[in-house]
Amino acid sequence: MKKKVFLTRSIFPEAIERLLQFAEIEVWSENCPPPVEVLIQKAAEVDGMLTMLTDPINANVIHIGKQNHLKVISQMAVGFDNIDVPSATSAGIPVGNTPGVLTETTADLAWALLMAAARRVVEGNNEVHQGIWRPWGPDVMCGRDVYGATLGLIGFGRIGQAMAARAKGFNMKVLYTQRHRDLDAEKKLGANFVTLIDLLQQSDFISLHAYLSPETKGMIGASQFEEMKPGVILINTARGAMIDQEALYQNLLAGRVAAAGLDVSDPEPISKDSPLLSLPNVVITPHIGSASIQTRKRMAMMTVGNIEAGLTGNPLPYCVNPEAYSNRK
Ligand code: GLV
Ligand code: GLV
Repeated sequence: MKKKVFLTRSIFPEAIERLLQFAEIEVWSENCPPPVEVLIQKAAEVDGMLTMLTDPINANVIHIGKQNHLKVISQMAVGFDNIDVPSATSAGIPVGNTPGVLTETTADLAWALLMAAARRVVEGNNEVHQGIWRPWGPDVMCGRDVYGATLGLIGFGRIGQAMAARAKGFNMKVLYTQRHRDLDAEKKLGANFVTLIDLLQQSDFISLHAYLSPETKGMIGASQFEEMKPGVILINTARGAMIDQEALYQNLLAGRVAAAGLDVSDPEPISKDSPLLSLPNVVITPHIGSASIQTRKRMAMMTVGNIEAGLTGNPLPYCVNPEAYSNRK
């Protein structure tokens, strides 16, 4: 009998076809993520779960899965902060993700936000669409130069490094901070390792590229904004919860932060009443960093590859908790 897999969203037809070669599937067909009650119910019934970053795969879901026959959780994202990985690890359930394939696509979006925020592309566009084309003037819609400016990268993994590669073409000075110094990447990309404080004090643009974790949650708050250069531009394509949004709002309002480019928010979707949405200097997109057709197809195929390995008891090609294998019965 074929193993059963629950998909929390429909994915590309090619990936579904592949999945059907070795599994029986059930797909949540609504446009919003399944509620946690549904996830718990499915965890009791299936061998594999194919999840999105919007699904709360908490300790309850995993506990029920372990009591039954859940063998693998395969997430179609590089981030996995929505999954209680420690619980999965102690339950002996491997968790897969999709690193690498979305790196350049996500850096492209981060770069688009950086350029748009710096040069007020969306503000200008909105005015013209509203019938307001202000006559050319020496001080009309002036933004900030990207070329030659200093870019501070918080997180210098795959995506952070892809940002540094883009910055090279703009003759930018690149600073980065993270737990471990990466001498090879530094050398290749001409980036400088600094402390967070130095990065905050010296950067004209700051862009976040770390995983959300207890250490990075709320890492940019009121006191970090105080260290930043007046007129700094902040870009976040990582996770919304890394920034204290109220402090961001206050600093944007006061003009200390000139603009923000955000692809993520906390919570998501952002509340319609969020004061951030009242500010013209906030460019915001709905978590679409990896959203190119080519990349989403690659992510879907990787996710299916992880499911297949998990169902057949093989190591997942892309596993975030390989320690899980030693906890298996
Ligand atoms: C997107 O945010 C991802 O983690 O893939
Ligand atoms: C983090 O998600 C990275 O790939 O840099």
